[in-house]
Order: sequence, then C-alpha cells, then structure tokens
Amino acid sequence: MTRLALAAILVLPLALVGCGDGGDAPQSAPAKPPRVLTDGEKAELLAALPAPYDQGDLENGRRAFARCRACHTLGEGGADMTGPNLYGVFGRKAGERPRYNYSNAMRTADFTWDAAALDHWLQNPRTFLPGNKMTFPGLPDATDRRDVIAFLKVETGYRPTPSPTPAS
Ligand code: HEC
Repeated sequence: MTRLALAAILVLPLALVGCGDGGDAPQSAPAKPPRVLTDGEKAELLAALPAPYDQGDLENGRRAFARCRACHTLGEGGADMTGPNLYGVFGRKAGERPRYNYSNAMRTADFTWDAAALDHWLQNPRTFLPGNKMTFPGLPDATDRRDVIAFLKVETGYRPTPSPTPAS
C-alpha cells in the first residue's frame, strides 16, 4: 500500500516532466501574425522609393525614429499612445485614424500624408499646422528627415508597386 502511494508520488512529477518535453508547440497560434519584412525585402522597397528617399539610410532613420517612439507605434495593429499608431499613414488623410482623439486642427486638416507633407511636418510641426497637439520641436536636419521618412515608408506598410514576381 505505502509502496504504491510512494510510487504514485514519484511517478506523477516524472510524467509531468515527460509531457513538458514534447510540449514545446504553442497552445494556440495567433490568428494572423503580422508580416515581418526581411532585410532583403526592406532594401528592395527602399530602392523602389522615389528620390531622394531611395538614398535613405534606414539605420539612421531608425535612430531618428527613437525620438518618436515615446509617442508612436509603427506596426500593423499597434496601439495608439500619446500619438496615433502610424501604420498605413502614407496615402491616408491627416487625422483619420479611427478612435484616436486628434486635436481639432488635425481632425479638420484637409490634406493627405505623403513624403513632402511629412517633411514639412517634421521640420516644424507647430508652424506646419498651428493648433496641433504634437509636442515635438521638429527634426532640424534634412538628412534625418529623409531617413526617418524612408524608414517610415518601409515600416508602415507603404508599397510603391505590386511585389515583383520572383524570376531570373
Ligand atoms: C511627445 C509626443 C510625440 C512625439 C515625440 C512625436 N509625436 Fe507625432 N504625434 C503626436 C500627437 C499627440 C499627434 C496628434 C496631433 C494632433 O492631433 O494634433 C501626432 C501626430 C503625428 C502624425 C499625424 C498622424 C495622423 O494620423 O494624421 C504623424 C505623421 C506623426 N505624428 C509623426 C511623428 C514622427 C515621425 C515623430 C518623430 C520624428 C513624431 N511624430 C514625434 C505626438 C508625438
């Protein structure tokens, strides 16, 4: 009797460990994992951007974006923080992200984000759109702006052309 009980106590944890061994597979896969671009795909996308953004330095753009990260996420489905998530911002009307609480100035602004608008915005948000609520002094360096715009194009889902068919 006692031997059996002892055996049960010894065997039970072993059985659990045994289960854990082969149980590395995730319990439930996420419905649709966000598509992550490879470095090669990013380089291809960069090269396809209109000048001067095709000359952009993505690494410098990433560094410049460090100044935006406190307030903005980039990825598909990313959260709004102090500022709105920026996925899909190119080609979108200013102040149009659903459920984000824009300033009146931004909500009623009548333009669509493209590289030129973003360049002006980032140079001096306050003079570009008076009354907006992005408390950011701007990026004075034109190369930093070029690079952060190139970085944003690559990271926020902008696609200049349909992906080329992989051939030759
Ligand atoms: C201190 C927080 C903060 C920082 C830092 C910041 N932003 Fe913003 N951003 C905001 C806020 C708040 C808004 C919304 C402005 C409004 O509604 O008037 C905004 C709006 C924007 C928009 C317009 C989005 C839309 O949906 O129309 C863009 C584009 C943008 N920011 C890019 C940037 C970039 C790029 C940087 C870094 C170079 C940056 N921001 C830095 C807070 C910030």
